[in-house]
This record gives sequence, C-alpha cells and structure tokens, in this order.
Amino acid sequence: MPFLNPLPPFMNGTLARWAYVSLAGLAALPGQFNRSALEAPWATSDISNPGLSRTLAYLNTTDFVAYDRKFLDIIGPDATIEHVQKLAFQSHEAPCYIKDTNQLFFVEWGPPGGENGTHPWQYLLDVETNELRKITTDPPTYNAHGCVVYDGALYVVTDGHGDEESAQLVKIDPRTLKREVLLNNYLVQPFGGFNDLEIDPRGNFYLTDSRSGWGRGLVDFALPTNPTVYFVERDTYRIKPVHITDGNANGVAISPDGDVIYIPDTGVSSYYPVHKSPYGKRELWAFDVAQSGAVLTNKRLLSNPISYFYDGVRVSRNGWIFCGAGDGVDVIDPQSGFTLGTIRVGGGENLAVSLAFGQNELWIVGRGGVWHVKGIRERLDREW
Ligand SMILES: *[C@@H]1O[C@H](CO)[C@@H](O)[C@H](O)[C@H]1NC(C)=O
Ligand SMILES: *[C@@H]1O[C@H](CO)[C@@H](O)[C@H](O)[C@H]1NC(C)=O
Ligand SMILES: *[C@@H]1O[C@H](CO)[C@@H](O)[C@H](O)[C@H]1NC(C)=O
Ligand SMILES: *[C@@H]1O[C@H](CO)[C@@H](O)[C@H](O)[C@H]1NC(C)=O
Repeated sequence: MPFLNPLPPFMNGTLARWAYVSLAGLAALPGQFNRSALEAPWATSDISNPGLSRTLAYLNTTDFVAYDRKFLDIIGPDATIEHVQKLAFQSHEAPCYIKDTNQLFFVEWGPPGGENGTHPWQYLLDVETNELRKITTDPPTYNAHGCVVYDGALYVVTDGHGDEESAQLVKIDPRTLKREVLLNNYLVQPFGGFNDLEIDPRGNFYLTDSRSGWGRGLVDFALPTNPTVYFVERDTYRIKPVHITDGNANGVAISPDGDVIYIPDTGVSSYYPVHKSPYGKRELWAFDVAQSGAVLTNKRLLSNPISYFYDGVRVSRNGWIFCGAGDGVDVIDPQSGFTLGTIRVGGGENLAVSLAFGQNELWIVGRGGVWHVKGIRERLDREW
C-alpha cells in the first residue's frame, strides 16, 4: 500500500510542496525503523526500506503535510509559505499581528542573545515591506515572552528581569509604544516568569506562569510555586489559579465561543539545566470554562504531539487549534484531537515556536526567524 495518498482534484496545481500521508499505508511498515518522540517522522535516518526512506526524504522537503482531508480543506491549494526573516538560531516568541498598522510584533527570547539573554527591546516587522526594526517601549519592557492583541492594544507578559523586576502583564499602545503595567503580583507574591497569555471574548486574562525564564537565568526570584495558570478578571482584577502542574506551563488558547480552553504541558523541556527528555510531559489538555471564567472543569487529554512539544497555541475563527510543534505548526481537530496536518518551516535547525493569525494568513516565529503563510483558504483571525 502506498505511503502517500494522491491529492484530490481541487488541490491540483498547488503553489507549495504538499504531501497527503496515508495513515493506513503507514500502519504496517516494512523493515527496520526508529525515531525519537522529539523528532518529526521524516527527521530520522534509521530506515531500512528504500521506498519508505525515499518517502520520508520527500516529506522532509515539503511545505505542508496533511494527515486528514480536513487539512486540505482548511489550507487549500493557494497557500504558500515564505521564510521572510532569517534571524539567529535562537527562540523567537510572542508574535502579535497588529491589523491597524499592518505590523508583526515579536521578540527575540532569552540566551544566547541580549545581555546574558535579557532583552529590553522587541521587534516590529512591517509585513508589507518586510522592514524589520527594533523598538523599545516607554518605559522599556524587559524579557517579553507572550503577546495577544485585544481592542487594538498589545497585551504582553514578561519573565521579569534579574532581581529588579518580577514577571508582569503590561499593555502597550502599538502607535506610541507607551507601556503601562497592569499586574505584577498575586497579592504580594511575585510570579515566577510569565510565558504566555490568552484573553477571552469579555477581555479576561489567562496568564501562564512558568519555570522557563528562571531556568534560563533571566530572573533571580526563586520560583514561588509550581507552574500555574492564573485567571484575572479584567474589570475587578480578581485573580486566582485555575490550573497547576509539576510539569511546565507554556501556551494557552481559548475556543471561539470562550467555552473551552487548551493548555499544553511542557514538562518535557527541563528548565535547568536545559534538557529535553521524551519522558517529560507533552500533553495538550482541554478544559470546559465555567461561566465565571474562573473554574476549569472536565480536564481531558485532547492530544499529544506526534513529535516534539506544543509551545505557542492559537485557535482559529472556526475553532481549529494551531500549535508551534518544532518541525512545524500542527493543526488539531478540537473535537477528536487528531492532528490534521503540519505547516512546515524547512526542517534542520529551523523550529516553529509560536504563531499569529491575520485574515487568511499567519506568521510563524521561532528558531531561524519568521515565516509568512498566505493564501490560506479559511479565515483564521477571530472575531474579538
Ligand atoms: C487533477 O489531476 C488529476 C490527476 O492528475 C486528474 O485526474 C484530474 O482530472 C485533475 N482535476 C482537475 C480539476 O484538473
Ligand atoms: C531508537 O531511537 C532512540 C532515539 O534516538 C534510541 O535511543 C534507541 O536506542 C533506538 N532504538 C534502537 C533499537 O535502535
Ligand atoms: C553577564 O554574564 C557575565 C558572565 O557571567 C557577567 O560577567 C556579567 O556581569 C553579566 N551581565 C549582566 C548584565 O548580568
Ligand atoms: C531534512 O531537511 C533538513 C533541511 O534541508 C536537513 O537539514 C536535514 O538533514 C534533513 N533530515 C534528514 C533526516 O534527511
């Protein structure tokens, strides 16, 4: 049985390089094979069967890999991916697409860049001209790690900075670059180091407090607690933990109706010393969100990545879950949890960390810079 399916007729003449994997075709493989849970199926060379080896080598050259017909319908034949900014091989994070100014905000995160990893600046990319500039907010924002646009403003979380400043939630005006601190403590307790955030349709916050900033030496505050996701009510600043893990907190994203939240656990990536073990946690959990927003119930294992771990997570207008997953961005079905396909960033040293949606386009940031995926068939940006 062939390892790949033919693309259906509506996908004739795709602009990008595609593969449509036959899961039934891969079910009973000939010969010897092996890969680690941290590498993509096509990133291995431990393959004895020449046909399989050729297929995997081909997959390693593609832009889009589909596992499910739905992925073809979502992405469509006109999509392309372009590596628009080639930057140092280190983590890039916190992408936010600013519609009003047609810019992408993102950051270089942690070591080896900055001053011992510390960054008092961020990037703004003009997505039309591809002009990239470094900006400093007023006053400066140190070690930004996550970003969400809401009502035209940038909401950014930080890891904190040495022993001077613990983690913060700040609001940045994208035009004036004026910055305001909204939250920097949990009733006098400092946060460990924010990794990311989500904002629900009513404007309430979910903040992921992680071990990563401390583990990479960006902050000197001893970790106050295990990694925790906090809910913060916008109007009252009522705050409480809604999820706690002995793994690690990382991305977070909410469904279009605000009734389901997705939280990956990334205990797999040890914070100190930095090390990745296939026995660490990599699960993507789904929870129902109570009316108040402040209680998460019905925790269930939605998915576990085919390879590597899920970092940044975003949910599209129609509810598809997009996750930075190392070799590319995985698209996951919110009902079944199956991985529908992967948007690849070129293999090798390149790594997809997080992403931001435009209307029928998205940007991926990670190790190796910025990728622009355009011509996507479905509308991606959400209503709020
Ligand atoms: C697409 O290509 C296939 C195989 O090459 C062919 O059978 C089919 O007629 C084509 N469909 C269209 C709509 O061009
Ligand atoms: C399979 O690959 C893993 C990860 O690279 C390695 O640790 C393991 O020894 C390999 N197993 C065999 C039987 O070669
Ligand atoms: C950066 O690290 C070097 C070597 O450990 C140290 O000498 C220097 O003081 C550090 N700089 C800052 C700003 O922490
Ligand atoms: C996959 O492609 C990348 C980029 O061209 C290359 O660096 C890597 O060695 C390839 N992996 C394998 C297993 O061929």
